[in-house]
Amino acid sequence: MKNHATMLRVIFVSTVLTVMLAVCAYAADRPMLSSADCIKCHYSQPADIAANGGAHKTSVTCQDCHTGHRPAIKNNIPQCSQCHTDKSHYKLANCLRCHTNPHTPKIIKLANNITDECLTCHTQQIAKLRQVPSKHSKLACSFCHNVHGKKPLCTQCHKPHSADITATECKKCHDAHMPTAVYMTPDTPNKMCAACHKRPYELLSKSEAKHKDVLCVTCHKDKHKFIPACTSCHGVPHPASMMARFTKCGECHNIAHNLNHWDPVTPKTSAKAAPVPVPKKLKHHKKK
Ligand code: HEC
Ligand code: HEC
Ligand code: HEC
Ligand code: HEC
Ligand code: HEC
Ligand code: HEC
Ligand code: HEC
Ligand code: HEC
Ligand code: HEC
Ligand code: HEC
Ligand code: HEC
Ligand code: HEC
Repeated sequence: MKNHATMLRVIFVSTVLTVMLAVCAYAADRPMLSSADCIKCHYSQPADIAANGGAHKTSVTCQDCHTGHRPAIKNNIPQCSQCHTDKSHYKLANCLRCHTNPHTPKIIKLANNITDECLTCHTQQIAKLRQVPSKHSKLACSFCHNVHGKKPLCTQCHKPHSADITATECKKCHDAHMPTAVYMTPDTPNKMCAACHKRPYELLSKSEAKHKDVLCVTCHKDKHKFIPACTSCHGVPHPASMMARFTKCGECHNIAHNLNHWDPVTPKTSAKAAPVPVPKKLKHHKKK
């Protein structure tokens, strides 16, 4: 038994030695191929790498990826996963679908139905799209972002509400990823509201009361459709006894967009001392 085992070991060692010698002789016969040689027979790949190789030009050589060559080595095409591991992005199927040419890895082509793959790097936008479901939530990311890193203008797909709103101003009221949750940035000009609210805009513009200089969004702030209470800015400026009789500010002041014009000769104190409803004829009274 022991002799038999020794015998096997001897046969094994001598076989290994023979193979090694054969390999050395083969290698000594043929000069080793170096990365500088490739260009002698392959033109386009070295040219691609030179022009747009990115890290595949600076961090690796042809032979880091292509080990060996035909006919000795039948398959010298690397898997991306040989070098790119760990990140969830590197677990996607078929890398060359987007990185269409491994020799120009940063040139990326996106089909128009891609969403899940984007989420390996961007998570904020999908959170918004899900938080406030809208028709945008049903579109693929790459339907809008068909070139990586490019942000489309809303007006590529939509008409502005009016000529007073330019393509870059949509974001004063809309977030691309939750477009129906309309908000109001505090500097939104009144003209933009006028696209849909002509009457309030015209009334306020023509009014002579001081509200004329207050922006729509100073009163209707934060969220679309919010209506402020007069008292949120003015408190209760009149005696309680008066307010007990006339519960609504509008009974005397009309509406916020068109406050009654008060006859300037009426002393302030008289209104406070003897609260009287404003006679109807004073409403819309015009200054001469
Ligand atoms: C003397 C010319 C010559 C040189 C030098 C050369 N190749 Fe090639 N290479 C070829 C030819 C010819 C083929 C096509 C073989 C075939 O189709 O069977 C080929 C095929 C390939 C392929 C494709 C293999 C496949 O399976 O489709 C790769 C990759 C490759 N070469 C890489 C290299 C790299 C990297 C170098 C430099 C280290 C290099 N070659 C140097 C002639 C050369
Ligand atoms: C980062 C890895 C990487 C580097 C570096 C790289 N290649 Fe490639 N190469 C690939 C992959 C992957 C393929 C297979 C592409 C495919 O399947 O379409 C490929 C394909 C090839 C082919 C086959 C023809 C083709 O374009 O599909 C040749 C020839 C080739 N490479 C030559 C080179 C040469 C020459 C260099 C150096 C100038 C080089 N490669 C550098 C990864 C690399
Ligand atoms: C032999 C190792 C190797 C292989 C195989 C390889 N890469 Fe790379 N790749 C690198 C290195 C090293 C870098 C630079 C460091 C990094 O970003 O991880 C890199 C960077 C990249 C980059 C960023 C390029 C830049 O300029 O920032 C992309 C994209 C990329 N690889 C895609 C691929 C794809 C797709 C494949 C398969 C077709 C692949 N790589 C195969 C080694 C490799
Ligand atoms: C759906 C398209 C798509 C697929 C599929 C895809 N990538 Fe990417 N990849 C991208 C985009 C987009 C970038 C971002 C490029 C940038 O930052 O400019 C990127 C960046 C990279 C980078 C550089 C940045 C980083 O975070 O490392 C590497 C490396 C990379 N991809 C490797 C891979 C590998 C490996 C695969 C396959 C397992 C793969 N990619 C599949 C679209 C894709
Ligand atoms: C491998 C990671 C990776 C993948 C995958 C990826 N991106 Fe990116 N993306 C980046 C990086 C890195 C930047 C540049 C830095 C930044 O602005 O966040 C970027 C930038 C962007 C920008 C511009 C951001 C700005 O503020 O200007 C958009 C838009 C974008 N990506 C959309 C997408 C879409 C859509 C997808 C899927 C089709 C995608 N990305 C896939 C990494 C990735
Ligand atoms: C309906 C079209 C549309 C869809 C669908 C869409 N986006 Fe956007 N995205 C935009 C627009 C428009 C902007 C530019 C917003 C701006 O200028 O403020 C943008 C901006 C971005 C930015 C820059 C940073 C930011 O949040 O403003 C990133 C990153 C981004 N989108 C990624 C994605 C990803 C990932 C998806 C899918 C989950 C996606 N987008 C879906 C239209 C869209
Ligand atoms: C690439 C095209 C595209 C871009 C860019 C785009 N949208 Fe849209 N948007 C659509 C489509 C498609 C719909 C659904 C239309 C329908 O079904 O009637 C839509 C619907 C909407 C809706 C209605 C949503 C609902 O659920 O009712 C609003 C609001 C909207 N978009 C605003 C915007 C704003 C603001 C921007 C820029 C930040 C923008 N869109 C950019 C394609 C786009
Ligand atoms: C001053 C605020 C404001 C600005 C600026 C604004 N929007 Fe709107 N948008 C709204 C409001 C409010 C609604 C909702 C109306 C409703 O509830 O019916 C709306 C609804 C929409 C809708 C869905 C309903 C429809 O009319 O089809 C689209 C699409 C839209 N906006 C696109 C845009 C685009 C594109 C821009 C930039 C050119 C823009 N919006 C700028 C306030 C604004
Ligand atoms: C795209 C058209 C559009 C734009 C732009 C728009 N709105 Fe509206 N708004 C509407 C619609 C539609 C309603 C709902 C009308 C209804 O309920 O009778 C509404 C309702 C309102 C309401 C509540 C009305 C009520 O009777 O309760 C207020 C307040 C309002 N909008 C203020 C504004 C302000 C301020 C702006 C500018 C920052 C603005 N809106 C821009 C379309 C728009
Ligand atoms: C967002 C705050 C705000 C809200 C809400 C508000 N106002 Fe005012 N109001 C003002 C400001 C600012 C002035 C100008 C004060 C000044 O210049 O002394 C003003 C002035 C007035 C004046 C004096 C007008 C003049 O021309 O002398 C009256 C009366 C008045 N408001 C009544 C009201 C009534 C009634 C309401 C509710 C329908 C209301 N306000 C809602 C901010 C507001
Ligand atoms: C019974 C009628 C009446 C009611 C109800 C009323 N007011 Fe007045 N208000 C007046 C009169 C009269 C004046 C004095 C006009 C003047 O001084 O020129 C006045 C003045 C004001 C002024 C301007 C004060 C100044 O110092 O310039 C504000 C602001 C005001 N009211 C807000 C309100 C608010 C808010 C309410 C509801 C809480 C309200 N008013 C309810 C009649 C009324
Ligand atoms: C000083 C505060 C103030 C300003 C400025 C203001 N509003 Fe109002 N708005 C109100 C109040 C308060 C109401 C509730 C009705 C009332 O009591 O007057 C209202 C009601 C509305 C309504 C619903 C009722 C109606 O009249 O249609 C709309 C729409 C509206 N405002 C739009 C606007 C627009 C657009 C602007 C700018 C052009 C604007 N508002 C400026 C305070 C204001």
